[in-house]
Amino acid sequence: MIKNIVILISGRGSNMEAIVRSAIPGARIAAVIANRADAGGLAFAAEHGIATAVVDHKAYASREAFDAVLAAEIDSHEPHLVVLAGFMRVLTADFVTHYAGRLINIHPSLLPSFPGLHTHVRALEAGVKVHGASVHFVTSDLDCGPIIVQAVVPVLDDDDEQRLSARVLAQEHRIYPQAVRWFVDERIVLLNGRAKVTSSGSGPESWTVPLIEDDTP
Ligand code: GRF
Repeated sequence: MIKNIVILISGRGSNMEAIVRSAIPGARIAAVIANRADAGGLAFAAEHGIATAVVDHKAYASREAFDAVLAAEIDSHEPHLVVLAGFMRVLTADFVTHYAGRLINIHPSLLPSFPGLHTHVRALEAGVKVHGASVHFVTSDLDCGPIIVQAVVPVLDDDDEQRLSARVLAQEHRIYPQAVRWFVDERIVLLNGRAKVTSSGSGPESWTVPLIEDDTP
């Protein structure tokens, strides 16, 4: 059965683009939905024949009202998986519960370090030697759900925010399509609050830890 994927964006949508370009067998990008009409990624989606919609959070008086309309738009596409790709809104507990186990996010840090905003600047200020990105299931605690995969990049002595974020973004574009592919292949299992990736869906004996190596210079 083909799995429908709905991707939510707020801006340029480069992670969405990486997922679309990876053309995952067995998956169909059913829609790209933005909370801003000026989200750059909408044009790419439309050019690729993907349904697009805008649900503008500013048109609603409360988070609850916005999330209800957003969920109705998402559900009209009958998603098996909802992918947050630079979607810059905090979601209500009701929304998150509705999509439990089928809502994932990418965060530009090695969680649980640096949840929230401005991760690259904070990593530089903290003087950490490695930084990276995490794909995780979404729970009602911000940037806290079970981690599916992480990519590590070195922090170099002469890094600034722009260089470090570019190095992390390159890895985001590798691990997010990878995580979506695992989900579509039903290789991700949630067990005791942790996400495990099976080697080929053959059962608990064959869990593997997905290791992603950094191949940037
Ligand atoms: C990415 O760094 C993502 O991790 C973060 O916001 C950024 C979105 O970039 N949540 P894009 O819209 O996917 O290009």
